[in-house]
Amino acid sequence: MKDYVIRPFTGGTRRISVPPDKSISHRALMISALCRGETRIERVLRSDDTAATLGCMRKLGVSVFEEGDAFIVRGSGKFFTPQEDPLTLFAGESGTTMRILSGILAGQKFSSRFEAQTSLENRPMNRIIVPLREMGADIRGVPRCVQRTGREEECPPLDIRSVGHLHGKSFRLPIASAQVKSALLLAGLYAEEATEVTEPAPSRDHTERMLRLFGCGLQSRGTTVRGVPDACLATPGFLRVPGDFSSAAFFLVLGLIVPGSRLVLKDVNVNPTRCGLLDVLRRMGARIRCEQVREEYEPVCDLVVETSSLRATVVEPGEIPQMIDEIPVLCVAAAFASGRTEIRGVSELKVKETDRVWSMVSNLDRAGVAIHDEDRERGECSIVIEGKKKYRPARFESCFDHRTAMSLIVFASALEGESEIDDVRCIHKSFPEFIPLMEQLRASTGAQE
Ligand code: S3P
Repeated sequence: MKDYVIRPFTGGTRRISVPPDKSISHRALMISALCRGETRIERVLRSDDTAATLGCMRKLGVSVFEEGDAFIVRGSGKFFTPQEDPLTLFAGESGTTMRILSGILAGQKFSSRFEAQTSLENRPMNRIIVPLREMGADIRGVPRCVQRTGREEECPPLDIRSVGHLHGKSFRLPIASAQVKSALLLAGLYAEEATEVTEPAPSRDHTERMLRLFGCGLQSRGTTVRGVPDACLATPGFLRVPGDFSSAAFFLVLGLIVPGSRLVLKDVNVNPTRCGLLDVLRRMGARIRCEQVREEYEPVCDLVVETSSLRATVVEPGEIPQMIDEIPVLCVAAAFASGRTEIRGVSELKVKETDRVWSMVSNLDRAGVAIHDEDRERGECSIVIEGKKKYRPARFESCFDHRTAMSLIVFASALEGESEIDDVRCIHKSFPEFIPLMEQLRASTGAQE
């Protein structure tokens, strides 16, 4: 693939529409399939990851029709009736598809084999396999040494066999993870006792909100959520997926670091369990306003960002789960802030699509950013960045990771001179229109609103 040339961005006022939320799109497709009746889902994200979920739902025998930018899902209840048994499903590179859907597959009356693309085959699955087994599920993977952690784990493909029914349990998760919490809550729909999940810090609560929208009365208290045993879901008939805060984050940082910018980001989901980056950026001096705030099943608003003079901050481990996917772009903001920023407790970044600690440290270092990682007690890890204002253009490597690639494009857009990045195909995982949108914004005069 040819390198993508990243040209400098100029300031100005621009209105931007970010793509629909990836996490909510996955959940909307899966949960609407679990109830009887039709659900119209407006603005589902169309990307490689959500295509994997859609492909799985269709293979499970669920009817999904497209109508303009909406999907109509015709569910027939909690138990799917696919054509094959065992059924082979493919998650592609989507960890969310594999981890969350496994919870649903564990409760089915047929067996499945869940396959993945090579990059996902090397990501840890014990985090769902072990607790699902404790609920009585028959699920196993292939033992492999996960390179990035050096630990032996069961990895994809997963074999999930049918077992009469599951048992509800109370879980105390060692790490905050929305994917694990969601898999367990969804498996809990097939259990006779309630399933309860407590996390060390709150992770995104989209599954809980979506289940409530579908009539399932979960109870949340602090970082504990308790599901309803053997619950049946009822369709709300219609729902709309709001804009993705994680995709908006790239434009928030772009607007902050490119002089003379004012960007208006329309209809962005501002769920507090997702928006930790907003608090951290504001603490750094960012001028970001929420306008037209409205509360649907998820809070939504327009975000207005203006170029700001940023100062360093310390991000504590307890803040990480609410901004887990935004750390790469936070590294970019920190590179332009005055002083020493420390982002603590980022070990989970090592098991994302790539090791994002390494991908950001090694790439930003090429442009002259003073950035390094530090291993701390109990295997914890921090990223330390000493910010300054000027850097040299460089040739970057995406490491096949969408969030690394987009963060580096934002960084390079604020430099004088052209940079390159090797492979941007990975961006299709979450934001297929990112590059065309950046080109369109670059070409516009920046005077319109
Ligand atoms: C996601 C949860 C997060 C996040 C991922 C999407 C989700 O992963 O990194 O991009 O949709 O539940 P973890 O739950 O593993 O932290």
